[in-house]
Amino acid sequence: MNIEPQPNGFGASITGVDLSQQLSDDTVRRIRKAWLRHMVLCFPNQPLMLSELERFTRYFGEYGDDPYVTPIDGHPNVIEIRREAQENASPFGSSWHSDWSFQATPPSATILHAREVPPYGGDTLYADGYRAFDALTAELRARCQGLTAIHSARRPYSHAGFVAGGGKHRSMKIRPSDTALATQRHPVVRTHPETQRKALWVNPVYTVGIEGLGAQEGQALIQQLCGHALRDEFIYRHRWQPHMLTMWDNRCVQHCAQGGYDGHRRIMYRTTVAGDAPC
Ligand code: OGA
Ligand code: MN
Repeated sequence: MNIEPQPNGFGASITGVDLSQQLSDDTVRRIRKAWLRHMVLCFPNQPLMLSELERFTRYFGEYGDDPYVTPIDGHPNVIEIRREAQENASPFGSSWHSDWSFQATPPSATILHAREVPPYGGDTLYADGYRAFDALTAELRARCQGLTAIHSARRPYSHAGFVAGGGKHRSMKIRPSDTALATQRHPVVRTHPETQRKALWVNPVYTVGIEGLGAQEGQALIQQLCGHALRDEFIYRHRWQPHMLTMWDNRCVQHCAQGGYDGHRRIMYRTTVAGDAPC
């Protein structure tokens, strides 16, 4: 197995392993170690059946709980991310977020497997939350450390939400719900349960307020922190190829799907691995 870090020191590409086969404990351990260190792993050229994607996912833990998207028939833990050539709805995941950060225990990993990739566009951007934390000014760092953020799925997934509003123009099976109005408290600075490193952990979609601050003041701070976290130097732009698999760490990374491929179809399959309560 060969692990090649991406040039900007965030993310890595792994070759020399066949993910369609059963993996040895040692191989899984090495992948896990690389994932913790590099945060976004990509494995080019891995044609997989859904059952193989499922088996690979389970090497890293239990499945996560994936709300608001109808899973694939016969595969209750796999969702399809699809955008048709003629579709004009915004791409799924095209605002910066950490997956399901509104849950009490959001997923540790998301695994995404590319089935059909457009000839241009459709990249995924990733932002390194450790670097964002490390680069905060001493003053902002001190201010953030004791703060609690409020997360909610309401912006995209309530009945009035912007994804729900994609309506008949969206080919993905989104299920908006009143449960999206619920809120969840999480620390603004999260300590990664495995690396013990601190990551800035607010995102512009699901973080809807800061405890103890008024709506305006909270929103201003969220905007300031996201503006900082999403600076160019913290970002890795991932270019897909067909049959490429990526696996990222939602506990220290946020991500954002890019458009720019109107007229072409894009299809991905996705699973998540259950995580812990952020602290
Ligand atoms: C996701 C997601 C991004 C993409 O699967 O969680 O945000 O580029 N996808 O499809
Ligand atoms: Mn996502």
